[in-house]
Amino acid sequence: MRAAGEKIACLTCYDASFALIEDRAGVDLVLIGDSLGMVIQGRTTTTAVTVADIEYHSRCVAPYLQRAFLVADLPFLSFATRERALDASQRLMQGGGAKMVKLEGGREQADIVEYLSVRGVPVCAHLGLQPQLIHKVGAFKVQGREEAQAEAMVHDARVLEDAGADLLLLECVPSALAKRITDAAQVPVIGIGAGPDVSGQILVLHDILGISPALSHGRIPRFVKNFLKGADDIEAAIRAYVAAVKSGAYPAPEHCF
Ligand code: KIV
Repeated sequence: MRAAGEKIACLTCYDASFALIEDRAGVDLVLIGDSLGMVIQGRTTTTAVTVADIEYHSRCVAPYLQRAFLVADLPFLSFATRERALDASQRLMQGGGAKMVKLEGGREQADIVEYLSVRGVPVCAHLGLQPQLIHKVGAFKVQGREEAQAEAMVHDARVLEDAGADLLLLECVPSALAKRITDAAQVPVIGIGAGPDVSGQILVLHDILGISPALSHGRIPRFVKNFLKGADDIEAAIRAYVAAVKSGAYPAPEHCF
């Protein structure tokens, strides 16, 4: 799709009912995100999510996808060593039915990415804002605003792709930096709060349906858009999201950094 110039519409999913709807509505890639710790379990961070949680939700979703590609998150510390990363990936792929795993981190994860990749595990590398680091960094904020940080992220992306990453995901980075990384990469680059010049977009299901404010005390990230507004039902809202990603109408300037 990247080569064909078609934008990739990605969305998180956690259960069978939404899996059916997302697949029918034309979502290309479905992610079992560790965001489930927040939107499903009601916690304030993702760090308590376990491999068992992600495997369980993957098992709920996988049988209901006919065309969408299923990616599952490796949760906090589940890829701290090569052995743990391989074991967790085996659970998510064989037990959960995922076709790719996603892990957060930059060049320091290159060794793990390579270890998984050469063993046949497709990997998505998640750069930029890394929610699993919240207790280390203290706050969620835009990453790569300063040139030194931006340059380091471009380098990280290159190193991770060289290590075997099949997909890159950029969270909360300035649009210009996301374009720079996308131009330099061969693999598709998916953005969330990363502007329009990437290969595709991803959002959290609950955010596009306007459900999240209930748990986030009204604090909604700049890149979020509620597609249920003006739609007749949930499937129409997801279709509207897919259409907006494909046409480039989403993200608009007000969703970008
Ligand atoms: O956990 C998640 O849902 C994610 C997306 C926000 C990209 O990582």
